[in-house]
Amino acid sequence: SKEGYAHFMLKEIYQQPTAIRDTVERRIDEKGNIVLENISITKEVLEKINKIYIVACGTAYHAGLIGKYLFQTFLKVDTIADIASEFRYSEHNIDENTLVVIVSQSGETADTLQALKDAKEKGARILSITNVVGSSIARESDDVFYTWAGPEIAVASTKAYTTQLVAFYLMALHFGRLKNTIELTCYEEILNELRTLPEKLQITLSECDKKAKNISETIKDKQSVFYLGRGLDYYTALEGALKLKEISYIHTEAFPAGELKHGSIALIEEGTPVIAFATQSLIYDKIVSNIKEVKARGAYVVGVTRKKNEDLKEICDEVVLLEESFNIFMPLISVVVAQLISYYTALLKGNDVDKPRNLAKSVTVE
Ligand code: M6R
Repeated sequence: SKEGYAHFMLKEIYQQPTAIRDTVERRIDEKGNIVLENISITKEVLEKINKIYIVACGTAYHAGLIGKYLFQTFLKVDTIADIASEFRYSEHNIDENTLVVIVSQSGETADTLQALKDAKEKGARILSITNVVGSSIARESDDVFYTWAGPEIAVASTKAYTTQLVAFYLMALHFGRLKNTIELTCYEEILNELRTLPEKLQITLSECDKKAKNISETIKDKQSVFYLGRGLDYYTALEGALKLKEISYIHTEAFPAGELKHGSIALIEEGTPVIAFATQSLIYDKIVSNIKEVKARGAYVVGVTRKKNEDLKEICDEVVLLEESFNIFMPLISVVVAQLISYYTALLKGNDVDKPRNLAKSVTVE
């Protein structure tokens, strides 16, 4: 049931603090260490792995992009994130020393399942992240990380995405410790911060809901909405763009902000909505320059940033301020703003929010 919410999507957006808490806390033992049941990758296995592929579709692929960043940072292994339907029809050098991570909420997506089977045939070790116990993808895998998001009914994925991110955080930390590519103090600090995220998400949801609604009023009649970001923020931009287009039917596109001047900036005219994610502190100045560039061409700019970056208010039309956390965790906090904007825009347009046209919850055909 929708438990008093107008739509499953809204309910699922608001369930995220709980879904994240369940996915994290059930994996921490009394000594405060991460324990991953259903994953039997040992230190020896891990030391042999010299390449990782992360394969998925849609939103799960966007989670995989963040996973790639985390694995490269904490495991020091080159990682490639690929779309399942592309991965299947291209050449890869996969063998017993390759780890293939499959991400799928439903565990039934046809292209993702077939990509898994192809990689398995070549000898890769298969680890899957899924929300459905006993799904086809879970059954075919060597190791499984179950997200404890609970059933996701709305076609637009929300809590499955944020719990997939949690899966990557926990695995990157756990494997990094096993391999000794992350120091104990660092591990503890990051894990402690991870455990504060349900609370921070709760605050963000209640503080940003009204603002998201107001932004939706402005963008609902626009032809196109552009999403910008750099680094991890670019991946949030991709997810935000997908979320808005699938339920509002407005054309959206995400750009790495540094690419603007290589073509896309030609599309910016008076009133074009641009949603810019600016949460990554090391490249904050860079995204600020990009925001100024689109602003100078008349864009209506929504900046999504940390609370400490109040200065953004001077250059944006709207600023959404987020709870502070580590750079790696900002995608999990900022994406809820994108989810709320999508929800309210689709609602204002009178669309069927939970069951958008032409889409199925689980894509079991190629
Ligand atoms: O069940 P899966 O995670 O394998 O599904 C993958 C995509 O079909 C899914 O994420 C889709 O992109 C959503 N509608 C996005 O909101």
